[in-house]
Amino acid sequence: MAAADTLFRRITDYANRADPYPLYAELREAGVVRQDDGSYLVGTYHEIAGLLHDPRISSDRRNRTVPDLLASREADVQVSFIGRDDPEHERLRNIAMRPFGPPHSPGRVDAMHDEITDITTRLIDALRGRDRIDLVEDFAYPLPVTVICRMLGVPREDEPKFHAWTETVIAGFDPSPDSNAEERQRAGLAARKAMGEYLGALAESRRGKPSDDLLSAFVNDPGPEGGFTRPELMATAVLLLLAGHETTVNLITNGVLTLLRHPEALELLRGEPELMPSAVEELLRYEPPVHLLPQRTALTDVEVAGVTIPKGVPVILVLASGSRDPRRFHEPDRFDPTRKDNQHLGFGSGVHSCFGAPLARIETQIALTELVRRLDGPRLLQDPPPFRRSPVLRGPRHLPLELAGLKD
Ligand code: HEM
Repeated sequence: MAAADTLFRRITDYANRADPYPLYAELREAGVVRQDDGSYLVGTYHEIAGLLHDPRISSDRRNRTVPDLLASREADVQVSFIGRDDPEHERLRNIAMRPFGPPHSPGRVDAMHDEITDITTRLIDALRGRDRIDLVEDFAYPLPVTVICRMLGVPREDEPKFHAWTETVIAGFDPSPDSNAEERQRAGLAARKAMGEYLGALAESRRGKPSDDLLSAFVNDPGPEGGFTRPELMATAVLLLLAGHETTVNLITNGVLTLLRHPEALELLRGEPELMPSAVEELLRYEPPVHLLPQRTALTDVEVAGVTIPKGVPVILVLASGSRDPRRFHEPDRFDPTRKDNQHLGFGSGVHSCFGAPLARIETQIALTELVRRLDGPRLLQDPPPFRRSPVLRGPRHLPLELAGLKD
């Protein structure tokens, strides 16, 4: 089993962050593989999709029979619905969806369209006169952060405070089997707690004073299911703030990187901007922000592709590998913004499939359409760029670009 262990260590090894795809090809060849800590890795499309829809696979780490610090410390920090199973997951997801989307608030995300366009325009206008930019700091990070702050009702000025917590929480979810793992998890739990208290207090301050944001809706308009308890509200708000800004930044940045690496695709989109929605789906398949889901657990012995995954062990689903599986996608390593039949795993699948997908899609479509139209002669200054540490949420930390100018 040493070979399999080596594979997961190599996938999580920062040295391979810029190009993990050859390792994913090895994983698909190896099939369902056991690591020497007892957990299992799955990297093929049909098996991952099957497990995402399989009620015998839990998202709740308390079902693990192996020691798990995150599960054992749950009494200290409330867990959000991404880490719960139905029916509790469904109840909490429905409460969270009430002000965010259909059926109760069907126009909520579409109503953000003009605001997202405005923020995008202002961020690009601010690049005027610059011949060098960092796409992450100057654009791809501030856009989704501003959008999720407006939606949730979090003051944008507090960004330095919650940015530091966010980085620590994300590091806490990094499953890399190295010597700092436990320390990272402890720091992540403490940051989650602090962030939850901050967001809980913000929501509480809106009680009885309804405003047009999610935190206000959570305390003032609980709906027929009875609303959240305070700890549930805190955990949900933390999840939304994290998910709302640590994923879309990577999709936008991966998008620009990929288009600059594929000049023919960039030219195509310049001429036919109506292809952008299909290009964004292709990016979610080809360079997705979420590479793997580390928190699934088998509730019983489960047979997958001829291998029995025993009850109680972690099952790591490598979504980014599944989305490059040649048994599902024709020429999977080719970036084709016109690809049809593109049911990628970028937003997961099944009951936990991404709650924010409609928002992430319109943000990225607007952002990339405007960047493609307005940046004149963009050129990559560093390829590969420096990547973020996390093997779970993968994307460039910085993307230095040279510009010839800016179009109106
Ligand atoms: C490009 C951007 C995004 C990507 C690639 C992405 C990806 C994902 C994936 C793969 C999952 C499945 C997790 C699992 O099965 O365990 C997920 C779940 C989730 N996402 Fe996103 N996401 C993005 C943006 C957002 C945004 C903007 C929000 C919030 C506004 C959001 C909120 C959530 C929530 C709440 C869940 C948990 C759903 C559940 O457990 O029922 N995401 N996301």
